[in-house]
Amino acid sequence: MKMRTLRNDVLAGGAVDWDRRLFDSLIPIPDGTSYNAYLIRGSRQTALLDTVDPSMTDVLAAQLAEVKRLDFVVSHHTEQDHSGAIPFVLNRYPEATVLASAKAKPMLTEHLGVSADRIRIVQDGEIVDLGGKTLEFLYTPWVHWPETMCTYLMEDRILFSCDFFGAHLATSDLTVADEGKVYEAAKRYYAEIMMPFRTVIKKNMEKVKAHPLDLIAPSHGPVYDRPAFILEAYEDWVGKVPKNEVVLPYISMHGSTEKMVKMLVSALTERNVKVHCFNMASTDIGKLAIALVDAATIVIGTPTVFMGPHPAIFFATHLANALSPKLRYASIIGSYGWNSKVIEHLSALIPNLKVEVLPTVLCRGLPGENDSRALEALADTIAARHRELK
Ligand code: FEO
Repeated sequence: MKMRTLRNDVLAGGAVDWDRRLFDSLIPIPDGTSYNAYLIRGSRQTALLDTVDPSMTDVLAAQLAEVKRLDFVVSHHTEQDHSGAIPFVLNRYPEATVLASAKAKPMLTEHLGVSADRIRIVQDGEIVDLGGKTLEFLYTPWVHWPETMCTYLMEDRILFSCDFFGAHLATSDLTVADEGKVYEAAKRYYAEIMMPFRTVIKKNMEKVKAHPLDLIAPSHGPVYDRPAFILEAYEDWVGKVPKNEVVLPYISMHGSTEKMVKMLVSALTERNVKVHCFNMASTDIGKLAIALVDAATIVIGTPTVFMGPHPAIFFATHLANALSPKLRYASIIGSYGWNSKVIEHLSALIPNLKVEVLPTVLCRGLPGENDSRALEALADTIAARHRELK
């Protein structure tokens, strides 16, 4: 497909990857993704903003077929899904220079083999005038790596944000057509990519919001023609106060832990606490990540295997720790056969989570009356703590 006009002399291109289902060999992307590239033509110079994943270089090559001269390639982020086709572009346009942040330059040479003499470092706030199209570069570290930056196109009031505000969503829509669908994909993206860095993200948001914005054009997913939609969503996600919600990843071997999980879910629901329950035998970890954005409490449900938690729970707990969500409370429930060290093992896995550990409920074999009462008491404690959230 040819590039499409976003504004006068501002074209949107790149590739839609309808089939991709996993990112970084880790992150599920059930709705595919896109690698957006943008072409800006000034009266004197032309710039390409981002490229595409190397696997789709041919798509970008076709879109650039009629572009005879390219002065700049702006690399907002060196990860291969945006910069992987830069070597191809530089080869096709020997006159082109890569514009990138100071931290990006060594990464472009080391990750992609770009020759250092083809890269020009742009500073935070630096302006490049293409001739009636003026680019301002804004350093926005950690959206998603330390070198990331955005470009603000002054005349058209467009923010080109790369991963920032992105959504893994394969769509033929140039701009957001269904905010509900994009909200879900953008929240998944935020949870998996941005959440660990949310303090910096908040500062970056203040920086970009200081500019009048008509469009936000990320490099994954459709363009936001109502920027307030995604800005308000991010304000909510990066906010400090978690919600009256519990995330409950669990797994069960012979049904005892599952029975306890069901008891606790009922008890919490009766106390008007929202629960997100994930059976780690089959769950999409992206949904677990999304639920972690808002939750105040995590309860981990596991049987004891090899004296410790089930390996699937190791994974879920490590992931929750790595994503560093704004959880305030944690607990562990589960069943064991003859002995257990799950509490010691799991406690050691969550150094990033600044949580108060609530009473745990471990039972030997099938849960009985005492365990049922302990789970009711745990639900009482969680509901009480949540009423005090601020
Ligand atoms: Fe879309 Fe961090 O790459």
